[in-house]
Amino acid sequence: AVERTLSIIKPDAVAKNVIGEIYSRFEKSGLKIIASRMHHLSRQEAEGFYAVHKARPFFNDLVSFMISGPVMVQVLEGENAVLNHRQLMGATDPKKAEPGTIRADFADSIDANAVHGSDAAETAAVEIAYFFPAMSIYSR
Ligand code: CMP
Repeated sequence: AVERTLSIIKPDAVAKNVIGEIYSRFEKSGLKIIASRMHHLSRQEAEGFYAVHKARPFFNDLVSFMISGPVMVQVLEGENAVLNHRQLMGATDPKKAEPGTIRADFADSIDANAVHGSDAAETAAVEIAYFFPAMSIYSR
């Protein structure tokens, strides 16, 4: 089925100047960018986005990293978008990511891991709504 997923290019990858390289991988895999914006998250915004991880030991480091610089946030649309995007990203820990994935190629650590992607269609709907009003999404 055609799905949508939320993608974030994290501060490390933005700083490495690989936004275009990552967008190109999305497009070559058939994912369409139907909304996009650069944004420097406040601590409150990052905590809200990652609220499901609030009890985890890595929560504070994760939030501090996510507000260390601007991110690119986009909505991707396509057949099986959630899984397709997760396969392009590779494993959360770049040491475990398959060669040729975004994290294998651009990530330095489990925190500075270049990208975020929704883990399921239901989560994607919540994450997309966190960043984009419906009128700012341009489905084609
Ligand atoms: P992300 O997909 O953005 O979702 C939560 C983030 O927490 C994850 O990517 C990692 O960058 C970060 N993180 C840090 N430590 C861990 C861990 N042990 N397990 C999962 N995620 C972690």
